[in-house]
Amino acid sequence: MFENVSFISSVYNLKDVPHNALPEVILCGRSNVGKSSFINSLFNRKSLAKISSSPGKTRSINFYDIDETFYIVDLPGYGYAKISISEREKWGKLVSGYIHEGQNIALALHFIDSRHKPTQLDVMLNEMLKTTGIPYFFVLTKTDKLKQSEFSQSAKMVSEVFSEAKINENLVLFSSIKGRGQKEIKKIFRNMFY
Ligand code: GTP
Ligand code: MG
Repeated sequence: MFENVSFISSVYNLKDVPHNALPEVILCGRSNVGKSSFINSLFNRKSLAKISSSPGKTRSINFYDIDETFYIVDLPGYGYAKISISEREKWGKLVSGYIHEGQNIALALHFIDSRHKPTQLDVMLNEMLKTTGIPYFFVLTKTDKLKQSEFSQSAKMVSEVFSEAKINENLVLFSSIKGRGQKEIKKIFRNMFY
């Protein structure tokens, strides 16, 4: 389980999205939050997913096949300031188009930096997930930068904005570096797809 992991394709336009029958887990959230690192860490592969050295570089939707059982779909991050407005609009359309048109989306992982309060863009994403009815989990990233005593505060920051967020239910504390949260995420995938 989780042994056969491969990159499938990068897609820059909705019309190029591959037609497939497998269920999908979409990764969404701000640029630089750690979505691509999540893939490499979870599957213990150094460079399966490209990590943006300068954030906002990843403009494509990236598909990964896991055990020919489900796909992980790495969506471009939003909210990177140094991007032109037209570029941002293109991103917005790509991501919201994908979320609205996706036939096989089984789960969304909404990534939030554990050190920061959710932003207006996070609220927009959350609303999109609610209107489309896609089940979602919150993944709080970079927890290796927190002290143990700050964990609950970090979760609270999220639940103040998203009242449904509950630790051990739909909110996972994660660290790509320390491996924290991997077991929980794998358990979610196992229960859903295997
Ligand atoms: P976009 O592709 O721009 O949407 O960004 P992304 O969400 O894919 O972020 P990415 O995985 O490229 O990580 C951004 C930066 O954060 C990189 O420098 C990573 O090394 C760093 N990073 C990611 N996860 C962690 C983590 O768990 N802990 C720490 N300390 N750094 C992390
Ligand atoms: Mg990325």
